[in-house]
Amino acid sequence: MARSMFERYGGFATVSKIVMSFYGKVLDSDIIGGYFEDIDMPALMDHQTKFIAQAMGGPAAYSNEMLYRVHKNLDIDNRSFQEMVTVLRETLEEFDLESGDIEQVLNEVRSRAQYIVVS
Ligand code: HEM
Repeated sequence: MARSMFERYGGFATVSKIVMSFYGKVLDSDIIGGYFEDIDMPALMDHQTKFIAQAMGGPAAYSNEMLYRVHKNLDIDNRSFQEMVTVLRETLEEFDLESGDIEQVLNEVRSRAQYIVVS
């Protein structure tokens, strides 16, 4: 069986480096940094790790129903969702993922928009 992208790029060892970079960019963003201002650091790291591992086809897959439940009171608009996708793209480019792989990851994330965006 073909190995998942998660395995090919080095599993959690790589994902945790990607997460550190993603984390900084998310907090720096004028558009989405605010969502995480009052969230404690372990919860944010948890979010980023799950977000990326899942998008790369690794473990910790969340059901769409769970994603909906977690985000429904956060008032996330489309612009913020897009910003998260943009920041993720920048991060993955820095880690030299192949462009086809990057598109696959971003498509995974984009396909969940309906469970996360409220307006
Ligand atoms: C497909 C995209 C996304 C995935 C897979 C995802 C995944 C998750 C998961 C699994 C959690 C729960 C973390 C835990 O176990 O505590 C979470 C929480 C959270 N997510 Fe996302 N997320 C996505 C998009 C977004 C976006 C676009 C935003 C904001 C711009 C966002 C903001 C948050 C916040 C603020 C929390 C923390 C809620 C709290 O602890 O009170 N997420 N996300």
